[in-house]
Amino acid sequence: MQRTFAIIKPDAVRKQAAGQILARIEGAGFAVRALRMIHMSKPEAEGFYHVHRDKPFFGGLTDFMSSGPCIVMCLEAPDAIRQWRDLMGATDPAKAAPGTLRKDFGASIDNNATHGSDAPETAAFELGYFFRGMELR
Ligand code: CMP
Repeated sequence: MQRTFAIIKPDAVRKQAAGQILARIEGAGFAVRALRMIHMSKPEAEGFYHVHRDKPFFGGLTDFMSSGPCIVMCLEAPDAIRQWRDLMGATDPAKAAPGTLRKDFGASIDNNATHGSDAPETAAFELGYFFRGMELR
């Protein structure tokens, strides 16, 4: 078993797609080990995405991620990091395969509905950024 960190982003929460996305997550066999709805401040979003701080999209990304509530989660499954990235699809919804969450719920590379960790070290940092040990079951 492996754990990964996932976000249902503000665009998907705003369009009331969170329930459908959660159903797809559970339907794909993930166990939800922790879940919380939060509204990140701009500095909190900047801390979370610090690896992207030198990218041209950093300002827009952190404005967007602090623009409304999102749902942060710990998901567990065999090979969870890869499996969750497969279920999300490509970062840009226009390039995402049919049947993926970003294809179905994303509108653009900025408003792409979901986030997932890309490696075990990233998952450890991202889970620890939002969850205390006693919240993870
Ligand atoms: P996410 O998986 O949350 O990781 C960083 C986010 O930056 C990414 O999804 C996109 O929503 C956003 N982003 C905006 N522009 C780009 C880009 N050119 N390349 C990668 N990510 C981008």
